[in-house]
Amino acid sequence: MEIRDVRFGFEKKIDKEYACVFQDQIKIYNKMKVLVATEKPFSAAAVNGIQKIVEEAGYNFAKLEKYTDVQQFYDAVADADALIVRSDKVTKEVIDHAKNLKIVVRAGAGFDNLDLAACTARGIVAMNTPGQNSNAVAELAIGMMIYMARNTFKPGTGCELKGKRVGIQAYGNVGRLVAEKAKALGMEVWAFDPFVPTEKMEAEGVHVPATLEELYAHCDYISLHIPANDQTKNSINYALLSKMPKGGCLVNTARKEVINEADMEKMLAERADFKYVTDIAPANAEALAQFAPRFFATPKKQGAETAEANMNAGLAAARQIVGFFKDGCTKFQVNK
Ligand code: 3PG
Repeated sequence: MEIRDVRFGFEKKIDKEYACVFQDQIKIYNKMKVLVATEKPFSAAAVNGIQKIVEEAGYNFAKLEKYTDVQQFYDAVADADALIVRSDKVTKEVIDHAKNLKIVVRAGAGFDNLDLAACTARGIVAMNTPGQNSNAVAELAIGMMIYMARNTFKPGTGCELKGKRVGIQAYGNVGRLVAEKAKALGMEVWAFDPFVPTEKMEAEGVHVPATLEELYAHCDYISLHIPANDQTKNSINYALLSKMPKGGCLVNTARKEVINEADMEKMLAERADFKYVTDIAPANAEALAQFAPRFFATPKKQGAETAEANMNAGLAAARQIVGFFKDGCTKFQVNK
């Protein structure tokens, strides 16, 4: 049992004398519960690290891994004060079941799996951990380019990345790392991002086209690093894809929702030179399988699946929760 002062919107552990003075403004709590709910679990080492941070802060640690039914999630979250997830869907129903929830942290970059409106309506702080798994995703994007350039490792003559043009759509944490690695491989790097000043990208040795269409028309490889939101969903369509030069390859380690799947099928069917590789299997993956080896999707989302990324993102999430409860820190809040 702990006595906590909640007058400042966050909680501080206080002593009994102080509590007597401010009796009307304090609450007595049982220990906070921090739940890690991951259908696709973190590595055991990352989970141990999260548990250590949580317990050293004086909170209870709980985990729900590889759950197969959403009811298991509802039950586990029922008494949780804080929640750490990966791509797990934190819907309004999950929020409704989480009567004590004060903070949810998506251990990763994209937070399209969180119902931000439902969090805000309940006064729950939602955060992500930007940058923590970026290197893993960037390495996968480059690896996928090589895999496709070498005909998915089937016997025969492939080609090299050196001297080819890569177009990076969205120059954020991942996009910048892809640019860095592509330059090291001798690729010519292009990028389009309306939210990043052209001078900044050019100062980093990146060519900036006037339009997104131009990026597609110029580049042998396009690597997607856009989030899934109302503006981007279904935006990678036939009109854009058909601008790619002969032998063009789209690399998607972002989100499947940004692809217009019917247009992708049409593109692969019409253009015998075009390639698509992704780590987020599309809904029409079965139909696209006929285009292998020009189409390849990993069986499970792989981008952030490295020991390092698990550790970085998981521990950052735990530290952000402790920082929020102890100091009221809301850096990385995404539902402001
Ligand atoms: C992210 O947005 O950080 C990545 O897509 C990683 O997602 P994951 O944690 O479900 O692998």
